[in-house]
Amino acid sequence: MSLIDGYDRQHRDLRVSVTDKCSLRCAYCMPAEGLPWLPSQEILSQDELIRLVGLAVQSGISSVRLTGGEPLLRTDIVEIVHAIKSLRDAPSVAMTTNGLRLTELAQDLATAGLDRVNVSLDTLQPDRFAQMTRRNQLPQTLAGIAAAQAAGLEPVKVNAVLLRDVNQADAADLLAWALTVGVQLRFIEQMPLDPQHSWTAADFVSVSEILAQLTSAGFRLIAQPRRDAAPASQWRITEVPAGITPVDSEPRLGVVASVSDPFCGSCDRLRLTADGQFRSCLFARKETDLRTPLRAGASDAELLALMRLDLAAKARGHGIDEPGFTQPDRPMSAIGG
Ligand code: 5AD
Ligand code: SF4
Repeated sequence: MSLIDGYDRQHRDLRVSVTDKCSLRCAYCMPAEGLPWLPSQEILSQDELIRLVGLAVQSGISSVRLTGGEPLLRTDIVEIVHAIKSLRDAPSVAMTTNGLRLTELAQDLATAGLDRVNVSLDTLQPDRFAQMTRRNQLPQTLAGIAAAQAAGLEPVKVNAVLLRDVNQADAADLLAWALTVGVQLRFIEQMPLDPQHSWTAADFVSVSEILAQLTSAGFRLIAQPRRDAAPASQWRITEVPAGITPVDSEPRLGVVASVSDPFCGSCDRLRLTADGQFRSCLFARKETDLRTPLRAGASDAELLALMRLDLAAKARGHGIDEPGFTQPDRPMSAIGG
């Protein structure tokens, strides 16, 4: 039985937040002092998490992404990857990470079966990195990216969020670097998920602004046809400024226009939070508690019925542009990116 919602969207992608904690404090994600973390007894154990992921896989989920917070802060993360890859009809398993622990863990993760990683990196300027993440760890992030490449977790994707008047001018530098080291860069529009709830439509940097900036820096980009359900649209890079030598013979850029050109119509994603709440959308106003029934002895059929009930109420779109839009009650670090 597959996971289909009221708009005939079949769900194949599950994002699992394995912890809400993080070793960075990115300005658009967490306040400097961090957030009130979930109590540890509320976090799903490895067995609980694997049981829920297994049920989703039996129902047609073919791709799992482990997120956080920072997933590599979980001490059993390598075992979690291995357990998911050992499921019957094992899904592809990817991870979104800040990269800080990849120097230690990339090889073990690859051996456990991890297929790919996305590393978040918003600037190559050490000062700005420290300002944006409130930690001075640019070299560790870069070393983590190199370790992921060396471990074969390729293609390594790098996610960058541009903030107006902060790192907005870094787009061309990031792209030049990505082409030179051979990672796939993706610019993601900032979504209204910031902890201070200060987002306004005027401050976010749109994909069209980013593309204009890259063009004026000497890049030539050609849009590629969109793949179904893929949130990133792909651009082929046909010209680069002087002095840049792309390692890839077909260099590309991804852009995720979550705000200016939402892809909700073909959304195939579901989410499971670190404390066992099932969510049909990042922006859902409602989530379904699976942890309580799971711990009370619910059967597989009962748990699946709860997932389906939640999915049946999935909204058509995120409604960021609609009057009365309100941010979700939880920050993105607790929902999973
Ligand atoms: N808008 C867009 N992207 C965000 N991320 C975190 N918060 C936001 C936001 N408000 C990104 C991070 C990371 C991924 C998990 O999501 O940069 O790459
Ligand atoms: Fe941590 Fe990612 Fe949030 Fe930055 S965006 S604070 S790396 S969870």
